[in-house]
Amino acid sequence: MQRMLFDAEPPIRVERFTRGLLKWIGNKQRIAHEIVAYFPPEFNRYIEPFAGSAAVLGTLAPDRALASDTFRPLIEIWLHVRREPDKVKRWYSSRYHRMIKGDKREEYERVKADYNRSGNPADLLFLCRTCYAGVVRFRQSDGFMSTPCGPHNPMTPDAFASRVDEWHRRISGTDFEVLDFREALARALPGDLVYCDPPYTHSQAILYGAQRFRLRQLLDAIGECKRRGVHVALSIDGVKQSGRKKCHLDIPEGLFEREILIDCGRSMLRRLQMGGQTLEGEVVADRLLLTY
Ligand SMILES: C[S@@+](CC[C@H](N)C(=O)[O-])C[C@H]1O[C@@H](n2cnc3c(N)ncnc32)[C@H](O)[C@@H]1O
Repeated sequence: MQRMLFDAEPPIRVERFTRGLLKWIGNKQRIAHEIVAYFPPEFNRYIEPFAGSAAVLGTLAPDRALASDTFRPLIEIWLHVRREPDKVKRWYSSRYHRMIKGDKREEYERVKADYNRSGNPADLLFLCRTCYAGVVRFRQSDGFMSTPCGPHNPMTPDAFASRVDEWHRRISGTDFEVLDFREALARALPGDLVYCDPPYTHSQAILYGAQRFRLRQLLDAIGECKRRGVHVALSIDGVKQSGRKKCHLDIPEGLFEREILIDCGRSMLRRLQMGGQTLEGEVVADRLLLTY
């Protein structure tokens, strides 16, 4: 396997797109353009089976795509952004005004309680924009969203609406579905491109209740894709603590042709775990593995 470090020039220059709609743990907003730079120049359908906040999809803005995730309220947000963007703007605006007029924390807790009762996408959308450090965290036992209110003021409804419009354009060719990754990968046809950004095995196991995710199963499904002529790119745990600790992963020999290390800067997750301190030296590199 050919190894490339992040100081090597990416093959294609891709415009950066940082106007994220959702905040999501492990989102690829900052490095999405670097990931896309390593995609093949041509492919049929783009498939993203661990969509989350869809940073790579949004940067790529493909003509034809399938984006999926097992988390239903999240996929419901994306379905609404695609089909009813004005409704999404109203979801945000009504909660924003209630929060600004009333007691900020009380209003946040009310939205959180509503979300935890009903699991509705409108509340989840608002929570992810207003929660502490943008870390939407779910209790493992019962899926309860537990993050407290963040200290910052949420973005204005006008600013949010302009992001909704931009995302609506960027995802206009994408179908969204609630699927396990195995089903999404099974749908990939020869000539398609799959980009996988699974829950990280070393740092995110608790955060999305990732106990249902098995890396081994993903690697098997990627092997199947490669055999039938589907290109696959996989983001996976890289090097942490400025290169002192390399995460060990059992990856079958010959599955990937290239490995690229992308510099992600300081880890948000570590920052939160350390009580909001910024830690010099907590630099994380993301590994991008390519079957082509
Ligand atoms: C690292 S996040 C993806 C982040 C995304 N790239 C972004 O930019 O926001 C991983 C996602 O995988 C989803 N997930 C967890 N287990 C899954 C499974 N078995 N099949 C499909 N999606 C799963 C989680 O809900 C989460 O949204």
